[in-house]
Amino acid sequence: IERLTSTKGAMMMKRTVIRGTGRYVPPRLVTNDDLSQWMDTSDEWIRQRTGIEQRYWVPEEGGVGSSDLGLEASKIALQRAGWAPEDLDLIIFATLSPDLFFPGCGCIMQHKLGLAATPALDIRQQCTGFLYGLTTADAYIRSGLANRILLVGAEVHSTGLDISTAGRDVAVIFGDGAGAVCLESLESNEPIGVLGSALHADGKFANSLMVEVGSSRLNPRISHELIDEGRHYPVMDGKAIFKLAVQKLPEVVIEVLKKAGLDLEAVDLLIPHQANLRINQFFAHSMKLPEEKVFNNIQRYGNTTAASIPIAFDEALEMNRIGDGSTVVFLGLGAGLTWGAVVARLGP
Ligand code: ACO
Repeated sequence: IERLTSTKGAMMMKRTVIRGTGRYVPPRLVTNDDLSQWMDTSDEWIRQRTGIEQRYWVPEEGGVGSSDLGLEASKIALQRAGWAPEDLDLIIFATLSPDLFFPGCGCIMQHKLGLAATPALDIRQQCTGFLYGLTTADAYIRSGLANRILLVGAEVHSTGLDISTAGRDVAVIFGDGAGAVCLESLESNEPIGVLGSALHADGKFANSLMVEVGSSRLNPRISHELIDEGRHYPVMDGKAIFKLAVQKLPEVVIEVLKKAGLDLEAVDLLIPHQANLRINQFFAHSMKLPEEKVFNNIQRYGNTTAASIPIAFDEALEMNRIGDGSTVVFLGLGAGLTWGAVVARLGP
């Protein structure tokens, strides 16, 4: 009770504030023209349909997993927060492309950070992994279960893509990368840190975007036949996902702002998941938002899934598009189907 009470006796609320951010992409730059050498596509098609101009992929020879990219982003975020790995109470790692089928990337990266007992939790919510992770971190902090949390979103897509013409609708979209944020508990009655969250899922669309092999429902989980059929590559009903995104993203932003008691005018920047530039342009148009209020960087990174929002957030901070006192809304939709939004006010 003493910890929850200020000197004046008023109850202080635990809030989740953002202390440091970081991002990392591997050095191998892959342009649209590079992709046209491997499949029947063109720079013009990719730019027109997705907005993407380039993406970064891990080295072709392999050996670099999502935990490696997450580690680099985490080191930057920790350094900016002024924290040592030992300061962490919890690691939350969001990815759809884990180093191993199990155990999760959180455990693997925890060891790479030099830790031996800090709990680590993996989140498997694809493009909304960062939003589910941030909401989970907020719940841990508000309940007093943790005071300092490292939240990471990282993906290595490139080693799992069909880069022949058969896989071109999916392969041109995805990039590798990682973003990380340090989250801390702060006792304050001011509206600061995470102010609201709205998360959703609808499993009836699970097959609209998925990778099947080697799932537990297959016996054997992997075989030459399955590979010959290409069932180890992601399949996506791009049109269905596109339509759901332009419908659900405005709805969930209105929902989260209502929960937080805020108007859209109070928001300085909306940071959407970077799935397709056209989805984000549709979103801005339907919300009657000026272009500069919606942050986009898919042109340079492609769709980095769980990493896309923290990468965009880190870049927006670096570009001074936002800073202390700014109100931001993170939003996204992706495989699951999952979608959501989180509103936060940045502050010292
Ligand atoms: N290069 C050239 N042509 C292509 C390519 C390519 N890379 N890919 C597809 N085409 C062809 C198709 O074969 C088709 O040809 P056809 O007319 O002769 O049949 C034509 O281009 C049009 O294809 P569509 O699939 O209709 O193209 P569309 O405009 O729908 O764009 C895209 C496809 C970019 C995938 C779009 O649907 C999209 O972005 N959807 C949303 C994706 C998304 O948000 N995913 C969720 C996030 S990711 C996650 O959760 C993991």
